[in-house]
Amino acid sequence: MKSTLLSLFALSVATSASAQLVVPFFRNPSVPHSFDRNHDQAPLMDPLGPGPAIPPSGSSPSTDPPVGSGGGGGSVVLSDVMGRDRSITLFAGFIRDIESASLRLEDASRNTTVLAPLNSAVEKLPRKPWEDPKEYDTFGSNAYEGGDGRERAQRNIRRFVEAHLVPVSPWKEGEKVKTVGGDSEVWWEEKDGRKLIQPGGIELVDVAGEVKNGEVWIIKGVLNYA
Ligand SMILES: *[C@@H]1O[C@H](CO)[C@@H](O)[C@H](O)[C@H]1NC(C)=O
Repeated sequence: MKSTLLSLFALSVATSASAQLVVPFFRNPSVPHSFDRNHDQAPLMDPLGPGPAIPPSGSSPSTDPPVGSGGGGGSVVLSDVMGRDRSITLFAGFIRDIESASLRLEDASRNTTVLAPLNSAVEKLPRKPWEDPKEYDTFGSNAYEGGDGRERAQRNIRRFVEAHLVPVSPWKEGEKVKTVGGDSEVWWEEKDGRKLIQPGGIELVDVAGEVKNGEVWIIKGVLNYA
């Protein structure tokens, strides 16, 4: 199911931060194989080293973006910066698992505001983003094993990811937009000096990157993706 392109892409953006954080999170008997991919990658830098994660040596120098440069970011696109912030490595990993989302973030001609939940928000979810209680009812505890199981997990992850991709950037205050998943409208407003994503009032923590095809917004919670 995974294409060469996707694998290369995963390699090119993987950082040790994601290898460190994503792998333990996925250590679960029901974890689909595809989500275990990072495990095969060698650590790329000292995990305790200070400062921002650096790209693996295999990536080309041209993908080295001026993070948070505040401008158009030259030729740098969202896919180049997604893996950089250690606080959102889980979400970055999910994006790598969904080819359509990865391709969108590589595409300089399609703008996106990525609403990337903090790792802590993903970890707090009552169920993993690839799990659907209805599927456990139907298929039992092996719901996410085998080929069909992987497909179900992939579909659920895709729904989760697409609920966090807003297909416009710049995104103006109050502008209601259907997410890439298409199921719900989202907008944001400023209240008491905080930017809140609505519905849900999920607080914007930081803008992790502003590049040619959009922005990465780090948010404190998870949008409704059911
Ligand atoms: C896409 O984003 C860039 C960078 O912010 C901006 O200059 C451009 O106008 C946007 N394009 C569209 C169609 O919104």
